[in-house]
Amino acid sequence: MSTSDSDYSLIKQGKVKTAYESPSNPDTIMFDFSDRISAFDVVIPTDIPKKGENLRDFAKFFFDNLNVPNHLIDTVDSTKMIVKKLDMIPVECIVRGYLYGGLFDRVNNGEIEIDCDNVLATKLSEPIFDPTTKSDIKDEPITESEIISQNIVSEEELNYLKNTSIDIYKKILDMASKSGFLIADLKLEFGKDESGNILLADSIGPDEFRLWSLAKYEVGKTQESYDKQILRDWLIDSGYKKQLDDAKKK
Ligand SMILES: Nc1ncnc2c1ncn2[C@@H]1O[C@H](COP(=O)(O)OP(=O)(O)O)[C@@H](O)[C@H]1O
Ligand SMILES: [Mg+2]
Repeated sequence: MSTSDSDYSLIKQGKVKTAYESPSNPDTIMFDFSDRISAFDVVIPTDIPKKGENLRDFAKFFFDNLNVPNHLIDTVDSTKMIVKKLDMIPVECIVRGYLYGGLFDRVNNGEIEIDCDNVLATKLSEPIFDPTTKSDIKDEPITESEIISQNIVSEEELNYLKNTSIDIYKKILDMASKSGFLIADLKLEFGKDESGNILLADSIGPDEFRLWSLAKYEVGKTQESYDKQILRDWLIDSGYKKQLDDAKKK
C-alpha cells in the first residue's frame, strides 16, 4: 500500500507521531513516526535521524509477535502504520520489573512502599503494575482503586489491562534476554473498539521501555541504556529537569 494515492490528511501532531485521517477510511488512523524525541513530556528541538523508521519497525515487530489483540492494520512506506481508530483509555499502563526512574524517586521520598531493597536498579521480586494518568502536561501516578472510583474502566477491564500488561512485559523481557538485553520497565496504552473490545494500541519500542545490557547490569548504579534514558540523564545532570519541575509548580 502507498500513501501517494490515498486521501489521508493531518489531524494531530503528537509529540512523536503525526496522525492522519481519511474520509474514505473513517475507522482508521495513519501514524507517521517522526524523528522527534520527547523527554519529561517535552519535545526536544533536535531530531534523531532514522528514529522514525526504527520506532515503526519495533511497533510492527511487537504487534505481529506478542499475540495480543491490537490495533495494527497495515504498514506503509518506512515510517507509517495504519491502525484501527479507538476510543483510548486515558491510563498509561506501566509495568516495572526494576526499581528505577520515577519509581525509585517515589520509594525514596516515601510516596510508595514496595517490598524490596531500596537500592537503585534492584530487581523487584515480581513485576508490578504502576499506572499513571495520561496528561499533556505531566502524567501522575494513579491507584487501581482510583481508576475504578473515577469510572475510567470497570473492575473486570482493569484486571484485563493489568494482567495483559504484566504478561506483555514478561514476554518482551524474555525476547530481549535472548539477545543479551533486559527490559526494566514498559509503558502500554489500550483503547476500545466500537464493540467495547479492548485492543493494545499506540506503539511499543524504545520510547516505551528501558532497555539495558544484561552483561553490564549492576545493582546500585545508573545503567547504560539503549533507549531515551540517556537523554533523560543528560537533562537531569544539566539542571534542565529541575528548572522544568520548578516551572510546572508555578
Ligand atoms: N488506535 C488509536 N486510536 C486513537 N488514538 C490512538 C490510537 N493509538 C494511539 N493513539 C493516541 O495517539 C497519540 C499518539 O501520538 P504521540 O506522538 O504518542 O502523542 P502524545 O504526544 O499524545 O503522546 C497518543 O495520544 C495516543 O494515545
Ligand atoms: Mg505518546
